Amino acid sequence: MKHFSLLMLFVALLLVSCSQSQKSMSEEDRFVEELLAKMTLAEKVGQLNQYTSRWEMTGPAPKGNAGAQDLLDQLKEGKVGSMLNVNGAEATRKAQQTVVENSRLGIPLIFGYDVIHGYKTMFPIPLGEAASWNPELARLSSEIAAKEAAISGINWTFAPMVDVGRDARWGRVMEGAGEDPYLGSAFAKARVHGFQGDDLSDEFSIAACAKHFAGYAFSESGRDYNSVEIGSETLHNIVLPPFKAAVEGDVATFMNGFNTINGEPVTASSYLQRDLLKGKWGFDGFVVSDWNSIGEIETHGASANLKESAERAIKGGSDMDMEARAYITHLEELVTEGKVDEALIDEGVRRVLRIKYRLGLFDDPYKYCNVENEKNMMYTDEHRAAARKVARESMVLLKNNKQLLPISEKVKSIAVIGPLANDKDSPLGNWRAKADSHSAVSLLEGVKAAVGQSVKVNYAEGCKLSIGPRNFTDRMIFNETDRSGFKAAISAARQSEVVLLALGEDCYQSGEGRSMSDITLKGLQQELFDEIYKVNKNIVVVLMTGRPVAIPEIAEKAGAILETWHAGTEGGHAMADVLFGKYNPSGKLPVTFPRNVGQCPIFYNYKNTGRPIGQTDAWVLYSCYNDTPNSPQFPFGYGLSYTQFEYSDITLDKNTITKVGELTVNVSVTNTGSVDGEEVVQLYIQDIAATYARPVKELKGFEKVMIKAGETKTLSFKLTETELGYYFPCGTYTVEAGQFNVFVGGNSVDVKQAQFSIE
Ligand code: NOJ
Repeated sequence: MKHFSLLMLFVALLLVSCSQSQKSMSEEDRFVEELLAKMTLAEKVGQLNQYTSRWEMTGPAPKGNAGAQDLLDQLKEGKVGSMLNVNGAEATRKAQQTVVENSRLGIPLIFGYDVIHGYKTMFPIPLGEAASWNPELARLSSEIAAKEAAISGINWTFAPMVDVGRDARWGRVMEGAGEDPYLGSAFAKARVHGFQGDDLSDEFSIAACAKHFAGYAFSESGRDYNSVEIGSETLHNIVLPPFKAAVEGDVATFMNGFNTINGEPVTASSYLQRDLLKGKWGFDGFVVSDWNSIGEIETHGASANLKESAERAIKGGSDMDMEARAYITHLEELVTEGKVDEALIDEGVRRVLRIKYRLGLFDDPYKYCNVENEKNMMYTDEHRAAARKVARESMVLLKNNKQLLPISEKVKSIAVIGPLANDKDSPLGNWRAKADSHSAVSLLEGVKAAVGQSVKVNYAEGCKLSIGPRNFTDRMIFNETDRSGFKAAISAARQSEVVLLALGEDCYQSGEGRSMSDITLKGLQQELFDEIYKVNKNIVVVLMTGRPVAIPEIAEKAGAILETWHAGTEGGHAMADVLFGKYNPSGKLPVTFPRNVGQCPIFYNYKNTGRPIGQTDAWVLYSCYNDTPNSPQFPFGYGLSYTQFEYSDITLDKNTITKVGELTVNVSVTNTGSVDGEEVVQLYIQDIAATYARPVKELKGFEKVMIKAGETKTLSFKLTETELGYYFPCGTYTVEAGQFNVFVGGNSVDVKQAQFSIE
């Protein structure tokens, strides 16, 4: 009897728990499980296979098979789950139709594309947007990019790139939010929200993809695709936080990377992808490999052949294979041989189907392919106005001697000179999706539109920057010899009161595969500057770059320097807005500008070392260069305004808090100049004595505020355990007792300081 009632109790409990789990099974789960149950192994593997279109390639040409007919056959057989680089409402509809109408289960494709900083309307490169220190702008630009992409049939962008980039030599610094994990996390979240909106099934939302997981930006010597050797303290505190932030922002997908970390290809890393991302962080979307990164496991020397690479990648947690053909060729066989558990494949497929479900593709596989929308909602006035707004807020005023800027209304002649002065292409930046070549507003056009007939504009190119191919894949050749344009440029400078000298980088000097061993200005640009300087000292250098550049002489001699980055479709108008004072510059560097390439990698949140140098930069037996100061040309967080801001001392609401306590840091900022302006108020901390050495400063708060001329604003920042702890090398987050410094200022160097302790 006793046994019987125990049994009854057990059965009752079982029934309750079953009915609970049935109840908790969402519509989405039920849909996915039912579909999965119908799929053959071959169909499952198909969902994990991604091919590029044949007409647009963003990586080396795929190896083996896959001519057009083969691709068509595979689409019809349900052997392809996703395509990249297919775009346009008609093209995507056609490809979708091929799959939905011919394959046994009609599971729609998901179309991915690199929508990095705009689709047709180009916004500033991501590094530029980060210089706005206004994540809301990144949200807005991503929302517009998503809309333009969505109406072209794209469901998924391979963005944001959230790699923290410390090395100016690495070409892809242009694609991220700079060197800081805190700023990077804020931008990661904002971009994910912009692309995905509040509801992934909205017709204008697309899935985002946090990439490249992880460590890709730490490639040796800044050479793209190279090995990464970093300690786990750096991994946890610097590299991973923006990825974690993307997960907290509900990012739908992740992309892994080409690199190894300490010898392990990240594409095969079950620690990163399974334990951390899908385990500890609870990410329920899918991970796509980078282009052939599964194939490259073999090239790294970490597998003997493609089959072994496939095995390592699926076991490591890579769900979808981009262009390695490793999964489609070997996964079935690996399962049959018992080397890979089918449950791993099921898990990957589940994740892919889940995102397709959330995008609404099962309700209407064609909802993204709308030819009418594509005609009417693309590149609109509203989108261009937003691009102008974002661009001008991204610009950083690096120098402004004797108030050369804004250009006074009294100035009646302006020279616009330089290889980039009338360049309508470079402002579009690299990774420009479907922007029309040469469609940006150039600096010259922007200036002419701003001044009308009232000012004489003397234009001269001066010199060409490159004389070789300009495209996504070919190496550029710079002009080292042709000075034939110098004469006209010198004459234009002579005849003008102010010179706007547009120097910097072509858009194809940064981006994927665009690492540089020298980050000074290429070609004859320095020489052009020197010649102009001989005849006119009122030079405003309008710097258009995709990375921090080393410009020591220009930094010393130019009257003013405005870093505009590659500013997008409306670049020239936005530049003119700033140059003529229609907009008071408010950007701050999201990345340190070195004095020379030998300082790379250089970043503000370095550790003190046992032999730090003092302010003099001049002792031999301390950690320093003997031929250049340790300090950068322009520090992280730096940027000027047309007004000045004065900071009060910091006040704290208490001097001691507990490990779970909260501290309020107050500071007042006064606009002491004569024009209104926005200031980015930055808060840094230093954990003075910890178990593991901590950086001399770590950004832990910022706020961009508009302060009217003469006005004072008081700002309050809260510090809690979220800001005050750090990761031990084992990955455990810890707040430690002890003394802390807190700093507040308008950049990472000029700061007010106070102290508190945690007990
Ligand atoms: C390789 C790049 O590393 C990645 O960021 C990009 O999304 C893919 N190619 C697809 O174009």
